[in-house]
Amino acid sequence: MSRIGTEYEVVFIDKNGMIVPTLASGKQPGIIEIRNLEAFSDRVCEGARFAASLIEMQGSARNPTRVVLKLERQIIAIDGKGLGTDFWIRPETLALIEADVYFGRAIRLVGPKGSGKTTFAQLLAKMFGVPFIKVDGTGIFKPKDLFGAESAEDGSTKWVPSDLMLFIETHRSSKHWPKAIVCLDEFSRMGHSMAPFHALFDHTGQYSFTTTDGTVVIDGLTGFIFILTDNPVGPGYIGNQSLDAAMSDRVEEHEFTYPPIEWEVPWLVSRTGITVDEATHIVQVAAEVRVLATAQMWEQGGPSPRRTLRAAEDVSIGKPMSLVVHARIIDRYPDGDAESPRRVIQQRLKSAELLDERVAVVSVVNVADVGAPAT
Ligand SMILES: Nc1ncnc2c1ncn2[C@@H]1O[C@H](COP(=O)(O)OP(=O)(O)OP(=O)(O)O)[C@@H](O)[C@H]1O
Ligand SMILES: [Mg+2]
Repeated sequence: MSRIGTEYEVVFIDKNGMIVPTLASGKQPGIIEIRNLEAFSDRVCEGARFAASLIEMQGSARNPTRVVLKLERQIIAIDGKGLGTDFWIRPETLALIEADVYFGRAIRLVGPKGSGKTTFAQLLAKMFGVPFIKVDGTGIFKPKDLFGAESAEDGSTKWVPSDLMLFIETHRSSKHWPKAIVCLDEFSRMGHSMAPFHALFDHTGQYSFTTTDGTVVIDGLTGFIFILTDNPVGPGYIGNQSLDAAMSDRVEEHEFTYPPIEWEVPWLVSRTGITVDEATHIVQVAAEVRVLATAQMWEQGGPSPRRTLRAAEDVSIGKPMSLVVHARIIDRYPDGDAESPRRVIQQRLKSAELLDERVAVVSVVNVADVGAPAT
């Protein structure tokens, strides 16, 4: 039986153009009165979820005719919704990112290539049901470049807004929280000085700059979640720089790593239809190389899930396993003397019984048989 003080989850849905709350249980009393709405007024929108306590009820618990609920706090929880088995992220990382989104903080995702940073930024927008835009950071030198460019036309210069500027204008008055996700991909590769960016990531939600046409003021940035993605500074990543102290103080940083083996194997199986044994072999090879690559400082991270996925795709259409793990993983490392990365990897894989030399070389016996044109 529902008691006064019981916590409910309230989900706001759009019905006939009106925002009306329903109990998550699906029961819809004739009258629902919501208290404390003003405290969350800027957060109430279609799909928003709140924890609420019951402060009055008329009718029976099964068939309430009128309930009075008091909103206690908003619930931001996206886990399990859409992430499912197709994306792996540490639960602690996800929980903290949810809090960052709730408070409208700028986020920075740092991790080796192919650890899912860009994909996650896009998924986050999908899970919140809000628009997404990705801006390639490598061509941006000052914050102003994000919003437009000076263009010469008929002998005079004119300020031409960028896609990001138009995107912000379109979604500025959105009633959703967040309004949108803006991914500044490869942020620290911008080759710029960090200092001008400090103003973009302060608490004002406003940014202004001058152009030949005058001063442009961008307002209403609050609610746009900026997600900066970066590779770590270190071997294998050219051009990356660390954030300066004032910049790193403004953004919440989260480390991305490759998924655990137990997750990667079923993921490859479900993505490509290869067998568990085949997926296990690919992932074990990748895992050995990951340990070596990072320990030997060849590159941070080693072969990414992008690599294992490509290998699994090849195997799924009948390409021999040995050819595939060489081409997609091992042979990407430079060959040379016994100390060279490729030889070290081969040695390691052989002693782990993951490399069978007898099938490592694949020869095409009779090209004419498959109808290739004679050259
Ligand atoms: N954590 C993960 N969960 C599921 N798939 C992943 C994950 N990480 C990477 N992948 C796979 O690898 C692909 C590449 O990931 P993505 O481009 O998002 O990585 P990134 O971290 O942005 O890499 P880069 O630093 O090279 O830009 C994804 O499309 C996905 O198939
Ligand atoms: Mg990326």
